[in-house]
Amino acid sequence: MDNISLLDKLEKQLLEKQEFVSLISSYTEKDAEYAAEKARAIAQSIYGKSVYIRGLIEVSNYCKNDCYYCGIRRSNLKCERYRLTKEDILECCEHGSQLGLHTFVLQGGEDLHYTCGEICDIVSSIKKLHPDCCVTLSIGEKSFEEYKAYREAGADRYLLRHETANEWHYSKLHPESMSLKNRMNCLLQLKELGYQTGAGMMIGTPFQTAEHLAEDMLYLGTLKPHMVGIGPFIPHKDTPFAKEKSGDVDLTVFLLSLSRIMLPHALIPATTALGTASGTGRERGILAGANVVMPNLSPMSVRKKYMLYDGKISTGSESADALKDLAKRMESIGYHIDLSRGDHADYKQ
Ligand code: 5AD
Repeated sequence: MDNISLLDKLEKQLLEKQEFVSLISSYTEKDAEYAAEKARAIAQSIYGKSVYIRGLIEVSNYCKNDCYYCGIRRSNLKCERYRLTKEDILECCEHGSQLGLHTFVLQGGEDLHYTCGEICDIVSSIKKLHPDCCVTLSIGEKSFEEYKAYREAGADRYLLRHETANEWHYSKLHPESMSLKNRMNCLLQLKELGYQTGAGMMIGTPFQTAEHLAEDMLYLGTLKPHMVGIGPFIPHKDTPFAKEKSGDVDLTVFLLSLSRIMLPHALIPATTALGTASGTGRERGILAGANVVMPNLSPMSVRKKYMLYDGKISTGSESADALKDLAKRMESIGYHIDLSRGDHADYKQ
Protein backbone atom coordinates (compact mmCIF):
# COMPACT_ATOMS: atom_id res chain seq x y z
CA MET A 1 0.00 0.00 0.00
CA ASP A 2 1.38 3.49 -0.75
CA ASN A 3 1.83 6.08 1.99
CA ILE A 4 -1.21 8.15 1.00
CA SER A 5 -3.41 5.03 1.21
CA LEU A 6 -1.86 4.19 4.59
CA LEU A 7 -2.74 7.67 5.87
CA ASP A 8 -6.31 7.21 4.59
CA LYS A 9 -6.44 3.83 6.31
CA LEU A 10 -5.15 5.30 9.59
CA GLU A 11 -8.12 7.65 9.63
CA LYS A 12 -10.47 4.65 9.72
CA GLN A 13 -8.58 2.14 11.80
CA LEU A 14 -5.34 1.35 13.54
CA LEU A 15 -2.48 0.41 11.21
CA GLU A 16 -0.46 -2.75 11.68
CA LYS A 17 3.09 -2.46 12.93
CA GLN A 18 4.72 -3.04 9.54
CA GLU A 19 2.47 -0.40 7.99
CA PHE A 20 3.59 2.16 10.57
CA VAL A 21 7.22 1.16 10.03
CA SER A 22 6.93 1.65 6.29
CA LEU A 23 5.11 4.98 6.65
CA ILE A 24 7.63 6.33 9.17
CA SER A 25 10.69 5.18 7.28
CA SER A 26 9.67 6.15 3.75
CA TYR A 27 7.43 9.22 4.02
CA THR A 28 8.11 12.09 1.63
CA GLU A 29 7.54 15.83 2.03
CA LYS A 30 4.32 15.39 0.05
CA ASP A 31 3.11 12.63 2.38
CA ALA A 32 3.88 14.85 5.37
CA GLU A 33 1.89 17.71 3.85
CA TYR A 34 -1.03 15.35 3.12
CA ALA A 35 -0.89 14.07 6.72
CA ALA A 36 -0.74 17.62 8.12
CA GLU A 37 -3.75 18.72 6.05
CA LYS A 38 -5.75 15.75 7.19
CA ALA A 39 -4.69 16.23 10.82
CA ARG A 40 -5.57 19.95 10.74
CA ALA A 41 -8.98 19.24 9.29
CA ILE A 42 -9.68 16.67 12.01
CA ALA A 43 -8.52 18.98 14.81
CA GLN A 44 -10.58 21.85 13.43
CA SER A 45 -13.71 19.72 13.10
CA ILE A 46 -13.56 19.01 16.85
CA TYR A 47 -11.83 21.96 18.48
CA GLY A 48 -12.12 24.66 15.82
CA LYS A 49 -9.11 26.92 15.51
CA SER A 50 -8.54 27.10 19.24
CA VAL A 51 -5.09 26.67 20.70
CA TYR A 52 -5.48 25.88 24.39
CA ILE A 53 -3.07 27.51 26.78
CA ARG A 54 -1.69 25.70 29.84
CA GLY A 55 0.40 27.53 32.39
CA LEU A 56 3.43 25.38 33.20
CA ILE A 57 4.87 25.63 36.70
CA GLU A 58 8.16 23.80 37.15
CA VAL A 59 7.85 23.02 40.84
CA SER A 60 11.13 21.23 41.54
CA ASN A 61 14.21 20.03 39.70
CA TYR A 62 15.23 17.53 42.38
CA CYS A 63 14.87 14.03 40.95
CA LYS A 64 15.50 10.57 42.33
CA ASN A 65 15.79 9.14 38.83
CA ASP A 66 18.77 9.03 36.54
CA CYS A 67 17.36 8.95 33.00
CA TYR A 68 20.31 9.16 30.60
CA TYR A 69 18.74 11.91 28.44
CA CYS A 70 17.56 14.31 31.12
CA GLY A 71 19.39 17.39 32.36
CA ILE A 72 17.90 17.19 35.86
CA ARG A 73 18.91 13.55 36.40
CA ARG A 74 20.19 12.69 39.85
CA SER A 75 23.80 12.24 38.74
CA ASN A 76 24.07 15.69 37.22
CA LEU A 77 25.96 17.40 40.00
CA LYS A 78 26.21 20.60 37.96
CA CYS A 79 22.46 21.09 38.11
CA GLU A 80 21.62 23.75 40.67
CA ARG A 81 18.65 22.35 42.53
CA TYR A 82 15.56 24.26 43.67
CA ARG A 83 12.14 23.49 44.98
CA LEU A 84 9.16 25.84 45.05
CA THR A 85 7.15 26.18 48.25
CA LYS A 86 3.39 25.96 48.39
CA GLU A 87 3.30 29.77 48.64
CA ASP A 88 5.50 30.13 45.53
CA ILE A 89 3.21 27.79 43.59
CA LEU A 90 0.06 29.58 44.71
CA GLU A 91 1.62 32.86 43.68
CA CYS A 92 2.31 31.49 40.19
CA CYS A 93 -1.32 30.34 39.93
CA GLU A 94 -2.61 33.70 41.08
CA HIS A 95 -0.49 35.36 38.46
CA GLY A 96 -1.71 32.93 35.79
CA SER A 97 -5.27 33.42 36.86
CA GLN A 98 -4.93 37.18 36.47
CA LEU A 99 -3.73 36.56 32.94
CA GLY A 100 -6.91 34.55 32.34
CA LEU A 101 -5.42 31.03 32.33
CA HIS A 102 -7.58 28.10 33.45
CA THR A 103 -5.10 25.23 33.53
CA PHE A 104 -2.05 24.96 35.75
CA VAL A 105 0.41 22.18 35.08
CA LEU A 106 2.59 21.34 38.06
CA GLN A 107 5.63 19.59 36.65
CA GLY A 108 8.73 18.43 38.44
CA GLY A 109 11.38 15.80 38.88
CA GLU A 110 10.54 12.88 41.15
CA ASP A 111 11.30 14.84 44.29
CA LEU A 112 10.94 12.74 47.43
CA HIS A 113 10.82 15.82 49.63
CA TYR A 114 7.12 16.55 49.04
CA THR A 115 4.94 14.14 50.99
CA CYS A 116 1.68 12.88 49.54
CA GLY A 117 -0.16 15.09 52.03
CA GLU A 118 1.78 18.16 50.92
CA ILE A 119 0.99 17.57 47.28
CA CYS A 120 -2.69 17.05 48.13
CA ASP A 121 -2.64 20.25 50.15
CA ILE A 122 -1.13 22.20 47.25
CA VAL A 123 -3.68 20.77 44.79
CA SER A 124 -6.68 21.40 47.02
CA SER A 125 -5.49 24.93 47.83
CA ILE A 126 -5.24 25.77 44.13
CA LYS A 127 -8.71 24.33 43.49
CA LYS A 128 -10.14 26.26 46.41
CA LEU A 129 -8.66 29.56 45.28
CA HIS A 130 -9.42 28.93 41.58
CA PRO A 131 -12.45 26.61 41.47
CA ASP A 132 -12.92 27.08 37.74
CA CYS A 133 -9.36 26.02 36.95
CA CYS A 134 -7.86 22.67 36.09
CA VAL A 135 -4.87 21.20 37.88
CA THR A 136 -2.61 18.91 35.89
CA LEU A 137 0.13 17.00 37.67
CA SER A 138 3.31 15.84 35.97
CA ILE A 139 5.47 14.53 38.79
CA GLY A 140 6.25 11.01 37.70
CA GLU A 141 5.64 7.47 38.86
CA LYS A 142 3.76 7.15 42.15
CA SER A 143 1.72 4.44 43.85
CA PHE A 144 -1.95 3.88 43.10
CA GLU A 145 -2.78 5.21 46.59
CA GLU A 146 -0.90 8.43 45.93
CA TYR A 147 -2.53 8.94 42.53
CA LYS A 148 -5.88 8.30 44.21
CA ALA A 149 -5.17 10.82 46.97
CA TYR A 150 -4.14 13.54 44.48
CA ARG A 151 -7.29 12.86 42.50
CA GLU A 152 -9.45 13.14 45.60
CA ALA A 153 -7.68 16.39 46.44
CA GLY A 154 -8.91 17.72 43.09
CA ALA A 155 -6.26 16.96 40.46
CA ASP A 156 -7.93 16.72 37.05
CA ARG A 157 -5.21 15.58 34.70
CA TYR A 158 -1.87 13.79 34.76
CA LEU A 159 0.99 13.80 32.27
CA LEU A 160 3.37 10.87 32.24
CA ARG A 161 5.12 10.23 28.96
CA HIS A 162 5.87 6.56 28.39
CA GLU A 163 9.08 7.76 26.61
CA THR A 164 9.34 4.61 24.44
CA ALA A 165 7.07 1.58 24.19
CA ASN A 166 9.90 -0.83 23.39
CA GLU A 167 11.44 -2.70 26.36
CA TRP A 168 14.93 -2.89 24.89
CA HIS A 169 14.92 0.78 23.89
CA TYR A 170 13.58 1.73 27.31
CA SER A 171 16.55 -0.03 28.92
CA LYS A 172 18.95 1.98 26.73
CA LEU A 173 17.47 5.27 28.00
CA HIS A 174 17.00 4.45 31.66
CA PRO A 175 18.96 2.76 34.45
CA GLU A 176 17.90 -0.70 35.61
CA SER A 177 15.97 0.70 38.54
CA MET A 178 13.26 1.90 36.15
CA SER A 179 10.91 -0.27 34.13
CA LEU A 180 8.60 0.27 31.22
CA LYS A 181 6.14 -2.13 32.80
CA ASN A 182 5.78 0.07 35.85
CA ARG A 183 5.40 3.18 33.73
CA MET A 184 2.67 1.60 31.61
CA ASN A 185 1.01 0.33 34.75
CA CYS A 186 0.97 3.88 36.15
CA LEU A 187 -0.72 5.10 32.96
CA LEU A 188 -3.46 2.48 33.30
CA GLN A 189 -4.01 3.41 36.93
CA LEU A 190 -4.24 7.10 36.10
CA LYS A 191 -6.90 6.36 33.49
CA GLU A 192 -8.76 4.10 35.89
CA LEU A 193 -8.83 6.90 38.47
CA GLY A 194 -10.53 9.19 36.00
CA TYR A 195 -7.66 11.51 35.22
CA GLN A 196 -7.48 12.99 31.76
CA THR A 197 -4.23 11.22 31.09
CA GLY A 198 -1.30 12.11 28.86
CA ALA A 199 1.37 9.80 27.44
CA GLY A 200 3.98 10.40 24.75
CA MET A 201 7.55 10.04 23.63
CA MET A 202 10.61 11.85 22.39
CA ILE A 203 11.59 11.62 18.75
CA GLY A 204 15.19 10.81 17.86
CA THR A 205 16.46 9.53 21.19
CA PRO A 206 19.66 7.48 20.85
CA PHE A 207 19.08 3.92 19.57
CA GLN A 208 15.53 4.73 18.38
CA THR A 209 14.41 3.02 15.15
CA ALA A 210 11.31 3.29 12.97
CA GLU A 211 10.17 0.02 14.58
CA HIS A 212 10.27 1.62 18.01
CA LEU A 213 8.22 4.57 16.79
CA ALA A 214 5.75 2.13 15.23
CA GLU A 215 5.45 0.47 18.64
CA ASP A 216 4.90 3.89 20.23
CA MET A 217 2.04 4.54 17.81
CA LEU A 218 0.48 1.14 18.47
CA TYR A 219 0.75 1.72 22.20
CA LEU A 220 -0.91 5.15 21.91
CA GLY A 221 -3.58 3.60 19.70
CA THR A 222 -4.48 1.05 22.36
CA LEU A 223 -4.03 3.20 25.48
CA LYS A 224 -6.02 6.03 23.91
CA PRO A 225 -4.68 8.76 26.19
CA HIS A 226 -6.50 12.08 26.36
CA MET A 227 -3.26 13.95 25.75
CA VAL A 228 -0.19 13.10 23.69
CA GLY A 229 3.14 14.87 24.26
CA ILE A 230 5.67 14.44 21.48
CA GLY A 231 8.88 16.43 21.12
CA PRO A 232 12.32 16.00 19.61
CA PHE A 233 15.13 14.69 21.80
CA ILE A 234 17.68 17.46 22.42
CA PRO A 235 20.99 16.58 24.08
CA HIS A 236 21.99 18.11 27.39
CA LYS A 237 25.71 18.76 27.87
CA ASP A 238 25.93 17.21 31.35
CA THR A 239 24.31 13.86 30.57
CA PRO A 240 25.62 10.59 29.09
CA PHE A 241 23.91 11.59 25.82
CA ALA A 242 25.74 14.93 25.56
CA LYS A 243 27.35 14.01 22.25
CA GLU A 244 24.27 12.51 20.60
CA LYS A 245 22.41 14.34 17.87
CA SER A 246 19.02 16.00 18.20
CA GLY A 247 15.80 14.46 16.96
CA ASP A 248 14.53 15.45 13.54
CA VAL A 249 11.99 18.28 13.48
CA ASP A 250 10.22 17.09 10.32
CA LEU A 251 9.81 13.59 11.74
CA THR A 252 8.46 15.03 15.00
CA VAL A 253 5.92 17.11 13.10
CA PHE A 254 4.91 14.07 11.01
CA LEU A 255 4.33 12.00 14.15
CA LEU A 256 2.17 14.79 15.58
CA SER A 257 0.00 14.48 12.47
CA LEU A 258 -0.17 10.69 12.75
CA SER A 259 -1.22 11.00 16.40
CA ARG A 260 -3.97 13.46 15.54
CA ILE A 261 -5.28 11.25 12.73
CA MET A 262 -5.25 8.21 15.00
CA LEU A 263 -6.70 9.96 18.09
CA PRO A 264 -8.97 12.71 16.72
CA HIS A 265 -10.05 14.05 20.13
CA ALA A 266 -6.63 14.14 21.75
CA LEU A 267 -5.17 17.31 23.22
CA ILE A 268 -1.77 17.54 21.61
CA PRO A 269 0.76 20.21 22.54
CA ALA A 270 3.20 21.85 20.18
CA THR A 271 5.94 21.24 22.73
CA THR A 272 8.62 23.50 24.13
CA ALA A 273 11.25 21.06 22.79
CA LEU A 274 9.78 21.50 19.31
CA GLY A 275 9.92 25.29 19.76
CA THR A 276 13.51 24.97 20.96
CA ALA A 277 14.63 22.78 18.05
CA SER A 278 13.13 25.19 15.51
CA GLY A 279 12.14 28.84 15.81
CA THR A 280 8.88 28.13 14.03
CA GLY A 281 8.44 24.68 15.58
CA ARG A 282 5.35 25.48 17.56
CA GLU A 283 3.58 27.07 14.61
CA ARG A 284 4.50 24.04 12.50
CA GLY A 285 3.17 21.78 15.24
CA ILE A 286 -0.20 23.55 15.27
CA LEU A 287 -0.38 23.41 11.49
CA ALA A 288 0.29 19.66 11.70
CA GLY A 289 -2.60 19.00 14.07
CA ALA A 290 -1.45 20.04 17.55
CA ASN A 291 -3.84 22.23 19.56
CA VAL A 292 -2.16 23.11 22.86
CA VAL A 293 0.72 25.36 23.92
CA MET A 294 2.20 25.32 27.40
CA PRO A 295 3.86 28.64 28.21
CA ASN A 296 6.05 28.88 31.26
CA LEU A 297 4.59 30.34 34.45
CA SER A 298 7.52 29.45 36.73
CA PRO A 299 9.17 32.26 38.67
CA MET A 300 11.87 33.92 36.57
CA SER A 301 14.50 33.10 39.21
CA VAL A 302 14.23 29.32 38.61
CA ARG A 303 13.63 29.18 34.85
CA LYS A 304 17.26 28.56 33.91
CA LYS A 305 17.53 25.77 36.43
CA TYR A 306 14.86 23.57 34.92
CA MET A 307 17.08 22.62 31.99
CA LEU A 308 15.89 19.27 30.71
CA TYR A 309 17.98 19.83 27.55
CA ASP A 310 20.36 22.46 26.21
CA GLY A 311 18.93 25.76 24.99
CA LYS A 312 15.42 25.17 26.37
CA ILE A 313 13.38 28.23 25.45
CA SER A 314 11.38 29.94 28.08
CA THR A 315 8.88 32.04 26.23
CA GLY A 316 6.32 32.36 28.91
CA SER A 317 3.13 33.82 30.03
CA GLU A 318 5.21 35.63 32.62
CA SER A 319 3.63 38.85 31.53
CA ALA A 320 0.57 39.98 29.66
CA ASP A 321 2.94 41.03 26.88
CA ALA A 322 4.41 37.57 26.48
CA LEU A 323 0.96 36.07 26.24
CA LYS A 324 -0.01 38.69 23.65
CA ASP A 325 3.06 37.74 21.68
CA LEU A 326 1.99 34.09 21.74
CA ALA A 327 -1.50 35.14 20.66
CA LYS A 328 -0.01 37.07 17.74
CA ARG A 329 2.07 34.10 16.64
CA MET A 330 -1.02 31.91 16.60
CA GLU A 331 -3.04 34.54 14.75
CA SER A 332 -0.32 34.75 12.12
CA ILE A 333 -1.16 31.15 11.16
CA GLY A 334 -4.93 31.62 11.36
CA TYR A 335 -5.49 30.29 14.90
CA HIS A 336 -6.43 31.94 18.20
CA ILE A 337 -5.38 31.24 21.77
CA ASP A 338 -8.17 29.90 23.97
CA LEU A 339 -7.85 30.49 27.71
CA SER A 340 -10.71 28.21 28.76
CA ARG A 341 -10.13 24.89 30.58
CA GLY A 342 -9.93 23.11 27.25
CA ASP A 343 -11.05 19.69 28.42
CA HIS A 344 -10.91 16.62 26.22
CA ALA A 345 -14.03 16.51 24.03
CA ASP A 346 -15.15 13.23 25.64
CA TYR A 347 -14.77 14.54 29.16
CA LYS A 348 -17.89 15.25 31.20
CA GLN A 349 -17.39 17.37 34.27
N1 5AD B 1 15.20 16.29 25.18
C1 5AD B 1 13.87 16.39 24.93
N2 5AD B 1 12.92 16.11 25.84
C2 5AD B 1 13.34 15.73 27.07
N3 5AD B 1 12.64 15.36 28.15
C3 5AD B 1 13.51 15.05 29.13
N4 5AD B 1 14.77 15.21 28.69
C4 5AD B 1 14.69 15.61 27.39
C5 5AD B 1 15.64 15.90 26.39
N5 5AD B 1 16.95 15.80 26.62
C6 5AD B 1 11.19 15.22 28.15
C7 5AD B 1 10.78 13.81 28.61
C8 5AD B 1 9.93 14.09 29.84
C9 5AD B 1 9.49 15.51 29.62
C10 5AD B 1 9.08 16.24 30.85
O1 5AD B 1 10.61 16.13 29.04
O2 5AD B 1 10.00 13.18 27.60
O3 5AD B 1 8.84 13.21 29.98
